[in-house]
This record gives sequence, C-alpha cells and structure tokens, in this order.
Amino acid sequence: MNLGVVVVAAGSGVRLGAGSAKALVRVAGRCLVDHAVSRLAQAGLPPPVIVHPAGAEAQFRRAVADPVAGWVNGGDQRRDSVRAGTAALPADVDVVVIHDAARAFTPVGVIREAVTAVTAAPGVLAAAPATPVVDTLKRVSSTGEVTTVDRTGVYAVQTPQVLTRPALEASLAAVTAGTDELEAVERLVAAGELDGSIVLVAGSELARKVTYPHDLEVLTAILAGARSGER
Ligand code: CTP
Ligand code: MG
Repeated sequence: MNLGVVVVAAGSGVRLGAGSAKALVRVAGRCLVDHAVSRLAQAGLPPPVIVHPAGAEAQFRRAVADPVAGWVNGGDQRRDSVRAGTAALPADVDVVVIHDAARAFTPVGVIREAVTAVTAAPGVLAAAPATPVVDTLKRVSSTGEVTTVDRTGVYAVQTPQVLTRPALEASLAAVTAGTDELEAVERLVAAGELDGSIVLVAGSELARKVTYPHDLEVLTAILAGARSGER
C-alpha cells in the first residue's frame, strides 16, 4: 500500500493564547510541528504534506528539520485543512495518515500501530489511537438539569487517524462534518454505503493534544520523567 501523510498545523491556537501559531510554539528547543514531523519520520512514514496557516510557509519551512513532501495553506476549519492537505497528495496514494501538529509527542509505537491497523488487515477502512475515558461524565441540559452519561466503552480519540483514500474522500464529501475524519466513515458504514470496519488502537498520554497552556506543562513533565527513566 502506498502511504501519504498530512500534518494539519493551520490552527491559530486561540485557547493556547501563545500569540503565534500553535504549531510554532517551542518545547525543549523545537517547535511542535518539528517534533510531530520527526516522530512520523521515526515511525518510518514518508515525508508529510504540511498544512500551515495561510502565508506562513516561510516560517514553517524554517521550523521543520526533517524532509517534507509539500507545503499547503490551511482553511477556516480543521476539516478544510485536511481537505487541502489531502488534495496535495499524489494520485497513487491509497492510505492517508492525518496527524495533528498539536499532538507533537505521539509515540512512534502508537503511530505505527494505527498505520498497521489499516495496512495489515483487509477490510479496515480507518483506524485511530484512543484511550478509555476515566472521568465520570455529566450532561447538563439547557435548563440546567444534570445527568450522568454512561462511560462504558467510551474512548477519547487521538491522532494519527489513518484512512483508506476512498474512505477519506467519502468522509470529506459528507454533508455533515464531524469533529474527526472517522465520524462520517462510521455513519457511511452504518448506512451500508461503505463496506468495512473501523478500528481503535491503544493511545497514549503523550499523544495528548496541546490545547491549553496546562497541556504544555503536563507534556513537559511527562517528557522530563521519560528522559530521567522514571517511566
Ligand atoms: N487545524 C488546522 N486548521 C484549522 C484548525 C485546526 O490545521 N483551521 C489543526 C491545528 O493546527 C491542530 C489540529 O488541527 O494541529 C487540532 O486543532 P486544535 O487543537 O483545535 O488547534 P487550533 O485550532 O489551533 O486551536 P484553537 O481551537 O484553540 O484555536
Ligand atoms: Mg481548533
């Protein structure tokens, strides 16, 4: 199978509030996007297409050390950025790996497992890493009524999300957008419009998305612990 890789890094990082593109925020001396691309390369994947904020190509080129297959302007929503990145892949790519630059420290083993779930098993349309939700979940209605959501079998999904190209194209063409690429595939499979399965592989706390400043603190602490051999 011919793999194509897209790193979406075109968000502005409003919740992080760093004052610059989130993917260019530095941790341990390197930008998040650089960490992300380097881990994808270590996992043995081909060089990615990087989707960056419009007009920021030069800055991103300076930030990334590993080989890159292309540079593309992102769109308003993450999905628009995924679409732009996918459109830049060669026609012969038949499995697409989509990774958030904001999940810069996703372990190489997690990346490999998500990819293998699609490439090594016939009939798998899509795969992603995920971790079981450990907190008790509550839903608050518009009138303020609080109820508990059953968390049995509930997972928090990470990236890379890996999809066969037909499944990804179908997902991107779907009228109702989800918050990830898998959601539309789930609906199409349930409706009998796509034939195949969706697989979740074991995620990692290191694949945590940098969303708020606190996430940077947590990740920095985990990385420091990993380096000193504590875990
Ligand atoms: N992303 C993107 N294009 C967008 C929005 C998001 O490429 N229009 C990317 C981000 O760069 C990030 C990933 O999608 O790597 C996950 O998005 P998120 O964590 O929401 O990042 P931001 O949109 O940058 O953050 P915020 O929502 O706080 O502004
Ligand atoms: Mg966002």
